[in-house]
Amino acid sequence: MTMTQEQFKELIRSQQGELNAVLMYQRLAKVVKTDKERETFLQLAKEEGRHASVFHAYTKEALKPKKTMAVIMPFLYRLLGKKRLYKLIAKGEYAAAVGYEHMIADFPEVESVKNDEKRHGDIISGLL
Ligand SMILES: [Fe+2]
Repeated sequence: MTMTQEQFKELIRSQQGELNAVLMYQRLAKVVKTDKERETFLQLAKEEGRHASVFHAYTKEALKPKKTMAVIMPFLYRLLGKKRLYKLIAKGEYAAAVGYEHMIADFPEVESVKNDEKRHGDIISGLL
């Protein structure tokens, strides 16, 4: 598959973001108060893992997840409270969906990722 350097960089950035999101949701699953929320975030973590594999199929690069977002999750949960944190995360998911749109023409597998991010936004909004 041929791609520009810019496209490669964007795919790497996306793959990294998805990997980081796995840890973020796993960590969030540990701080939430109900089984429903815990199960939801563990499911989202799995789906972010699939997203990372979609980007990996294009980049062929093995990346390591960065823990920063995961580490600050418990602090954000206490600082902002559940409602504001969920709104922030949902907003991030919707923004990710929009951000992926322009990649679909050249990297068609990204469409399912984009659709998932939109759905994630809806699921998290549904927890409010
Ligand atoms: Fe994702």
